[in-house]
Amino acid sequence: MCAAPHLVPYAPDSTRSLLEEAARSRAAAGALGDTVLDRAEWMPSDELSSALAETVVPPDPARGFRTVGGLFAGLTDVGPTPAHWSENDPHRTAPFDVALTLVAATLGSVFGWTGQQAGRLVHNILPSKGNEHLQVGASSVVPLAWHSEDGFHPERADLLLLACVRNPDGVGSRLASVRDIAFDKADLIELRKPLLDIQPDDSYADPSSAALEAVGMATVWDSAQGLCVRYDPSYTKLLTEDRAFITAHERLGASFEEKGFTVPLSPGDLLIIDNDAMVHGRVSFRPRYDGTDRWLKRVLVRAPRSRPTRECREHGYLQTRVLPASAW
Ligand SMILES: [Fe+2]
Repeated sequence: MCAAPHLVPYAPDSTRSLLEEAARSRAAAGALGDTVLDRAEWMPSDELSSALAETVVPPDPARGFRTVGGLFAGLTDVGPTPAHWSENDPHRTAPFDVALTLVAATLGSVFGWTGQQAGRLVHNILPSKGNEHLQVGASSVVPLAWHSEDGFHPERADLLLLACVRNPDGVGSRLASVRDIAFDKADLIELRKPLLDIQPDDSYADPSSAALEAVGMATVWDSAQGLCVRYDPSYTKLLTEDRAFITAHERLGASFEEKGFTVPLSPGDLLIIDNDAMVHGRVSFRPRYDGTDRWLKRVLVRAPRSRPTRECREHGYLQTRVLPASAW
């Protein structure tokens, strides 16, 4: 595990001010993070759109992620960290959430999942009692293992946005790019085979869907942007006992560990992850459970690039996307 190889570029003051003003005015008019895309009058002004287009740029394909430091720094006055995602008051956090949703919408189509966090578009990632040892965002005392976001689904996010509300202990988000790995040719041949069955993680409400018939998924494939990956060993059933495939899959995990690095997020920072180029995780930490815990907001974005055509045959474990009302 290396140290972070990139400094966090900081959002220009002018962009931060425009965004903060727009978010606070829309929240005062009743907008929430989940509803701000529903009304034309809540869309960003031309001035804000131009500023965001310069500041919030999709990750460079060769790098796979981008950080925008301090973009939401003026909006972190949202009160104590809730004890559970369901206890977040979306009215109290509306200015932060609205800003994040407006930013996310400049990158593609914002969506949520029917079975995750009650279908909300803005997710709350915070440690919760009883989840300490799970492989979900609400865990804490165990490292969150390398994974693609929602790798079980063919309509998973292309871009994953994580915005930091607070992080008093500097708990790092971990990233690793499949494009940094020097693959053995034989391993690449194995990993292109559709021999995975990635299932929904424990943050989904209906685990019974895991009983559905497996449709083979490929681990890597090529796109115009470079090599892509789909990976979540904590929730993966291998559809083969072939030693060459299993070894290649294990070596991939070791390569992520070797190439991985930590991105420190401070209050107000935004992290944008290319979900096809990178896997992500989190170091372990001791939860406080006193209202001062690490708190991230997460938004999923579709900005479709090429994925294997056979993904169209997948059932996605019956999870369907929730779209803003404006998208209907
Ligand atoms: Fe994740």
